Parts: sequence; C-alpha cells; structure tokens
Amino acid sequence: LTSSAVEVLASVSRASGVTLRRQIEDQLRHAIRDGTLKRGARLASTRDLARQLGVSRPVVIEAYAQLAAEGYLEIRQGASPRVSRVVGQSREPTPASVSVTSGPHVDFRTRSPDLSAFPRTAWLRSLRNALSSMPNEELDYGEAHGTDALRRALAEYLGRVRGLVAEPDRIVIVSGFAQGRALVCRALAKAGVKRVAIEDPCQTALPGAVRRAGLTVVPIPVDSDGIRVDVLERSDAQAVFVTPAHQFPTGAVMSGERRAGVLAWLRDRKAIALEDDYDAEFRYDRAPVGALQALEPGRIVYGGTASKTLAPALRLGWLVVPPALLKTVAAAQRQSDWGVARIEQHAFADFLIRGELDRHLRRQRGVYRARRDTLLAALAKHLPEATVFGISAGLHACVVLPETDDILAIQAEAARRGVAVAAQNENRVRFKTPPTLLLGYANIGEASIRVGIKELAAAVRATRTRRRAALT
Ligand SMILES: Cc1ncc(COP(=O)(O)O)c(C=O)c1O
Repeated sequence: LTSSAVEVLASVSRASGVTLRRQIEDQLRHAIRDGTLKRGARLASTRDLARQLGVSRPVVIEAYAQLAAEGYLEIRQGASPRVSRVVGQSREPTPASVSVTSGPHVDFRTRSPDLSAFPRTAWLRSLRNALSSMPNEELDYGEAHGTDALRRALAEYLGRVRGLVAEPDRIVIVSGFAQGRALVCRALAKAGVKRVAIEDPCQTALPGAVRRAGLTVVPIPVDSDGIRVDVLERSDAQAVFVTPAHQFPTGAVMSGERRAGVLAWLRDRKAIALEDDYDAEFRYDRAPVGALQALEPGRIVYGGTASKTLAPALRLGWLVVPPALLKTVAAAQRQSDWGVARIEQHAFADFLIRGELDRHLRRQRGVYRARRDTLLAALAKHLPEATVFGISAGLHACVVLPETDDILAIQAEAARRGVAVAAQNENRVRFKTPPTLLLGYANIGEASIRVGIKELAAAVRATRTRRRAALT
C-alpha cells in the first residue's frame, strides 16, 4: 500500500505559492477524510515519499507530524506511518446516533513544544559524543545529584540566559520539574516547614504534590501582576511556590513591584521560595526578564526543565538550591532513585556546550511567535468579544470569555466539532476564575490553528444560542 500516498500526492508545485509541506498535508488530509486513504492504510516512509516527490525529507517529516498531531496519522518509531484507525471518513456512513467526531483534529490542550521539531540529528550527535567520550567509570551510579559535566554546562547556560547565580555544586539534576518539586517539598518538610503558599490557579498536580509531602497548601490568588503579595503577607505560610516569568496558567508576568514584595516577604519571614521557570526561554515581544532567584539566591530554589525547550520525553530538569537546603534536597534525590540517567545527562551537557540548545531556541522562538500571532489574529476575527491574556511569553494563551458563558458546555461542543480545549477552572484550588480557555499553540501548525479557532468560535456561538433557547 505504500504507493497510495504517492498516488494521492500526484502533484506538488513550487509555483503555487503554498508551501510544499502544506500541499502535502492538505492533500493527505483530504484523501484521508474522503476515504481515498483507508483507515489503517500504510503510507510511504518519509524517505521514500520525499524522494518520489522530489522534496526534502524534513518537509515530509513535518507534514506527517502535523497530520499525526491532528489525529489523522499514527506514527510509531520503527514502523511505517499509518492512517489513524479511528479517523472519521465520509465514504463510510456514520450511524446517526453517533454525534461525536473520531477524536479531536485540533488539540489545543497540549502545552508541549513542537514535537516534530525535536532536533533529532543534533541530539543523536550529542548522544554519540557522550557515549564515545564517557570513561567506563561514568557508567556507574555516580553521585545522585548529577554529572559534573552537566552541572557545569547548566551553570554557564543559566547564568547567561536566565541571569542566575548558579555554582555547579548547587545544582541538582532531576527527572523533570515534577520530581524536583517533590524533592523540594520533602526537604522543606524535613526543615520544619508546615504550610506552603501556592498560586491559585496553578498546575493541577501541584496541590497534591505539596500535600503528599505532609505539607498544608495555602492558596493565594493571582491577578494580572502575578501572585497577590498582600494576601501572602496576611497568610501564615512559611514557603511560597511561584511562576514569576509566566504564571501558570493565567500567563501573567510578575510585575517589578510584586517581585520586590515577594523578596521582602521572604526576608521578613525567613521563608523559602520555589521558582518554577518552566517556559521562560520563550518571550516574544521583549527580552526575557531574569530569574527571581538572582535577587535572593540564599532563599530561592530555582527549578528549570527541558520539557518546554526540547521535549517532555527527556525527563530532564534541574534545581539550583540555596546552601541551607542543599544537603536535604540531595539526600532526598539519593533516597528517591539514585539519580537521573547519566548517559542522557552527558548528551545534554554536550548539546549545551556545542550551542545546540541556543540554536534550537532561536529557531523555535520564530516558529512559536508566528503560531501565536496566527492564534491572536484568528481569535480577533472569530471571537472578538474574548480577552486574550498571557501572550507575551510561553507556549499557551488564556482566552477569557464573558461571565455568562458556560465553559463546560463550550468544551463539550468544541470537542464534538473536533477541537479539544482545556479550561482554567480545572486549575483552581479555592478561588473562582472567570470562564477561561487555555490554548496551547506550540505543537499545532498555523493552518490548523486557524481552522481550530474558527470551529471553537462556532462552538461558543452554538452553545450561547442553545442556552438562550433554553432560557426562553
Ligand atoms: C507549571 C509547569 N511547571 C513545570 C512543568 C514541567 O514539568 P516537567 O519538567 O516535570 O515536565 C510544566 C509542564 O507542563 C508546567 O505546566
């Protein structure tokens, strides 16, 4: 069946004004939708299709990845790409009773970076360099807090890119921020902390992670300047977890005044902060604001991750820990799992030292800015009544709808139309939030963003119409 894709893609034209990738995507999407390419059909490999169409392989890789992200294709390592076994096809009659489409075609729920852009070749080179240069003893367990090579490379990177104060021996390598946060919670509990202030709303997993360490969660509301320091001051918390560069999920950038307020609170209370700097490398309209940690390195644990710059699958993150907590955090790491995969740590060190991360970020910033601008233009056109927040940084935007909108009904209607969206009420701890949709845009092509927002707006309007009809 490998010829089907080629038969379907009889023509790509360099003169059409439409990119080659887009032409391939559009034709395949069409062929899958109308049933020319059947469910489960195997497609040509990216190499074969590229050769047969006379285009470069990355063009085909990107087209396939986009179609996979939209749910049309299944791509598995080492296997030929196939048409999704659950995709809806117009040549097959759908039973009238089934009103749900076969899974979202545009999924705004993901807040991951563009996974099709993972720098596979550069990463392979770093892995090869790591394996060929690692002495045998480096294949042993080693120190749980991470390899010297990576901690040195990260100290340089974080100082240069995030303005951090980061001696290599204060860095603990963790398997993603999620593990780092758990270690910090355990170390805080050990140091006698009982109550931890967290931003409300926040990442859904955060309150549970804090409670699992035996700590009490103190939710502090957030506004467009970040955490409400006045409420923090009135609380009895002994530590605070913040996302200053790009509050998750509201997208607020912590103002200078609030940053000063948090620092004053830390000093007054002799408290500790955990700074979650998850997507700070992506700032579109001005230079990134430096990390808060640089202003009070003795009281702030800094947490970073490769999940947004490269891919969550790496499970690589890092903590920069104040001296007073270093021993307990490193001990927690040792007790938890004896450390993070060391071959990957060496590969990442090589990747950083050779400037590959800088190169990748330069490229991706442009891609994400274009996707963000496409999202904003589509929202302005189709949902002009919405207010959009959090767009200056990161990989997602918040769309605040009028108070009268029923967010759950909108989510359900959008899903029925093939568009998956997350809602901010899923992230609340105590305080009510206005009806707000969270739209991750980094892993979706511009054409799909346009289609998705148009469909989402239609879902919003259909939901309102139904609600009005029910009220009369
Ligand atoms: C607020 C926040 N912090 C950190 C992360 C990254 O976590 P990890 O490094 O464990 O992948 C995420 C991922 O979605 C997040 O939403």
